[in-house]
Amino acid sequence: MCGIVAYIGNKEAYPILIKGLQRLEYRGYDSAGVALLKDNHVNLYKKQGKVSDLENYAKQFDTSGKIGIGHTRWATHGLPNDINSHPHTSMDGKIAIIHNGIIENYDSIKEQLISRGYEFKSQTDTEVIVHLIDDILKKEGVDLAEAVRLALMSVIGAYAIVVLSSDYPDQLVCARKSSPLVVGIGQENDFYLASDATPIIEYTKQVVYLNDEEIATVSLKEGLKIINIKNQEKSPYVQELEMQIESLEKGGFEHFMLKEIFEQPRSIRDCFRGRLNSEEGWVQLGGLKDYEQRLIHANRLVMVACGTSWHACQVGEYLIEDLARINVEVEYASEFRYRNPIINENDIVIALTQSGETADTLAAIELAKQKGAKVLGITNVVGSSVSRATHAGSYTHAGPEIGVASTKAFTAQVTVLTLMALRLAHIRGTLSRSEFHQLTAELERIPDKVQRILESNDKIKEIAHIYHQATNALYLGRGSSFPVALEGALKLKEISYIHAEGYPAAEMKHGPIALIDEEMPVFVIATKGTSYEKVVSNIQEVKARKGKIISIVTEGDVQVKELSDHYIEIPETDEHLVPLLATIPLQILSYHIAVMRGCNVDQPRNLAKSVTVE
Ligand code: AGP
Ligand code: GLU
Repeated sequence: MCGIVAYIGNKEAYPILIKGLQRLEYRGYDSAGVALLKDNHVNLYKKQGKVSDLENYAKQFDTSGKIGIGHTRWATHGLPNDINSHPHTSMDGKIAIIHNGIIENYDSIKEQLISRGYEFKSQTDTEVIVHLIDDILKKEGVDLAEAVRLALMSVIGAYAIVVLSSDYPDQLVCARKSSPLVVGIGQENDFYLASDATPIIEYTKQVVYLNDEEIATVSLKEGLKIINIKNQEKSPYVQELEMQIESLEKGGFEHFMLKEIFEQPRSIRDCFRGRLNSEEGWVQLGGLKDYEQRLIHANRLVMVACGTSWHACQVGEYLIEDLARINVEVEYASEFRYRNPIINENDIVIALTQSGETADTLAAIELAKQKGAKVLGITNVVGSSVSRATHAGSYTHAGPEIGVASTKAFTAQVTVLTLMALRLAHIRGTLSRSEFHQLTAELERIPDKVQRILESNDKIKEIAHIYHQATNALYLGRGSSFPVALEGALKLKEISYIHAEGYPAAEMKHGPIALIDEEMPVFVIATKGTSYEKVVSNIQEVKARKGKIISIVTEGDVQVKELSDHYIEIPETDEHLVPLLATIPLQILSYHIAVMRGCNVDQPRNLAKSVTVE
């Protein structure tokens, strides 16, 4: 978590840093801070709370300077207060550092530094790095970049750091391991450093993604120089950004989450554009082409992910097993990495992640590679760590997702997995020509059907109003609607702080049914399909205990509508594609409930968009 941004050049740094921090705020919003170099002096301003709190606070001070660093924090070590906010400085105030990640051996380094007379102001792990660099500079007589390199050699853990020093007023030194860092090469001999490209995009499209254990110096005199931790020089690989600036703005919506929900007809279409043609009867995923044979002959496919991405994997499991008849297992990346899984070269591991930076998912990828498996990545962020750590993969093309609660990234992930299931089924011949045609043609119609669901926004808002003061909620679904229920419950939990649980509808009677009374809203995905009658029985069981039923039904449904206290209709579609539609009303419901409860929808408490720590 945490967002870092830095600038060096001929422009005023502060406005660039503040704007950059606002863009990165989705990564953490416990506190924000900047350090600016002016007349060989480091000015430090930091404040608990949002970037706007920092801005208000800093108004009274001189924020001029053409070199500076900024940070928005998601606390791992130490309370989210002013003192623990980044940047952290050396005792003489000359060196300032911002850090994203965790220094695992900070305790022992801290002890050594204290025994050498260093005093710590904060409770963070980060502060050890700045004192370590200071200590090395004083003892070894090396330059700043070398001191950073030597300091990092003693550090265990994850980091993306930027270091500024008043003794080196024409340069910034940055480095990364496991946490992301991008260098933007400006048009006026200036440089931008950031956790992702969003703070950079409006100034330059030329970027270099640093690799693990690389240290870069950006200097007004000497430009960009990269070395690795072993002190070997590396040539920068400059890439062109494809991101559009408009995708980072709210575009008239009250919240990013709502904008992203409403973008789904487009994002789903963008996801299958060029990959699907029902008329000509083909589906392809260019990035996976070289691995198709391996995929169909694999012993099994193991999907690893966290949170919402894990729910998408669950949908993928149903689709791939049912359509292509290939064995799939889904694992939480955090569990997979620590349980000595049985994986070998006959397995294919597929990592799903919106951000491409989730620490547990990255660690699971490394473990799978060590065990000889081929690893494919499905991610939304071009150039992200997962896109580079995997053997091959596919992008979801949903566009930047800023709301912390994932919406359009989920439907795009499910779309890619649907394409994958169809492609594998096609090659394996597990679907007849007409089934293949019918499914591909229906997938092409999904964006229009999503659009129709979005038109029920007002009706869904009315339902949200009735239940927005609930304290608990149950979400039920069967088959591939079970992960949709899980995702519905997660959405409600994370943005409205209402306790919610997702269950396979039939499991309800094995425990959760005890919770049901007249206060309990039960959201049920009860669309037409093989389990329809079974779900109807489950609804009856809830009704018998006076629970409130809010159902998602297929247009034209009669039976479930009659049993429901409220219902939301979605257009009829093939059962395999129901998750792409049934998810949408649940997202909208959670959104309105959270707004009605006065919650910060885009930046829910305690959460951050990319979880770059374990
Ligand atoms: C989604 O709403 C959550 N905020 C969270 O569960 C998220 O899906 C999870 O952290 C995984 O992130 P990733 O897709 O970027 O790896
Ligand atoms: N460990 C640092 C802190 O607690 C950085 C946290 C992070 O990157 O999430 O301040």
